[in-house]
Amino acid sequence: MLPEVTATRYVTPLREGGSLPGIVEADDLGTYVMKFTGAGQGRKTLVAEVVCGQLGRRLGLRVPELARIQLDPVIGLGEPDEEVQELLKASGGLNLGMDYLPGSIGFDPLAYEVDSAEAGRVVWFDALINNVDRSWRNPNMLVWHGDLWLIDHGATMIWHHNWPGAAASAAKPYDASDHVLARFQPDIASAAAELAPLVTEELLTEVAADVPDEWLVDEPGFDTTDAVRRAYVEALLPRAGTIHTRITLGEPTAERPSQAPGWLTGRPGRPVPVAEKGASA
Ligand SMILES: Nc1ncnc2c1ncn2[C@@H]1O[C@H](COP(=O)(O)OP(=O)(O)OP(=O)(O)O)[C@@H](O)[C@H]1O
Ligand SMILES: [Mg+2]
Repeated sequence: MLPEVTATRYVTPLREGGSLPGIVEADDLGTYVMKFTGAGQGRKTLVAEVVCGQLGRRLGLRVPELARIQLDPVIGLGEPDEEVQELLKASGGLNLGMDYLPGSIGFDPLAYEVDSAEAGRVVWFDALINNVDRSWRNPNMLVWHGDLWLIDHGATMIWHHNWPGAAASAAKPYDASDHVLARFQPDIASAAAELAPLVTEELLTEVAADVPDEWLVDEPGFDTTDAVRRAYVEALLPRAGTIHTRITLGEPTAERPSQAPGWLTGRPGRPVPVAEKGASA
């Protein structure tokens, strides 16, 4: 189970995030980025954060630690922003926290070099979880103490939005052409050889066990929360063995809105000029 803490102070909203996550302090003296259950993106975004965040960590990728955060909306009473007030009011009880990395900066592919082994691991992992939200438009990676950290796994595993079609959906390929690390010659074959054997039924079962029951109850088509957990395992397990053969790395698209669905990201993509492939600053 994820560690559980109680929020003691709402510090500030993170306005870059479409779901309006906030920085909070908790009773373990830790500082967290809190993703709210009351956010419009819905609880499946939080389930995806837990399944993929925990999976990434278990595979040795850098993902900040996750925690369950109990929130009493009363701590936000002094917050002047009405939108934030509403979010806090709608999110009493259990929320998701991610360890806050102080002083981290957003990943910039023109300012930071990534070796092809690390790029391969990240692209392979994103292909496994079908992450549509690690593009050059919205990298969702941070650089902290010189290392690359992966955040924001809410827009992954599209199949959990339509369980009857999950097996077919999870068998589909992954287009990494717009992936922010596509320009670093990702060594996908080596990453698959290293990581795919680690994605066992046992590991996936442990990862799914970290998802709080509260976010799985009453899922249509399932009798128990463990049955829903099982569905995550069954979608990811076969995909792990073969997805490296179905990753495409074509030319990145230019000025076009993000392919990430707006209802997941909460905002349209922000087009910026694409740099020449292979160039680095
Ligand atoms: N663990 C962290 N430590 C420091 N800063 C963070 C952390 N997690 C998120 N942030 C900052 O908050 C921003 C929003 O976080 P995140 O991308 O997870 O939110 P989101 O609402 O899901 O965003 P999106 O609009 O990409 O869907 C990030 O771009 C980053 O600047
Ligand atoms: Mg984000």
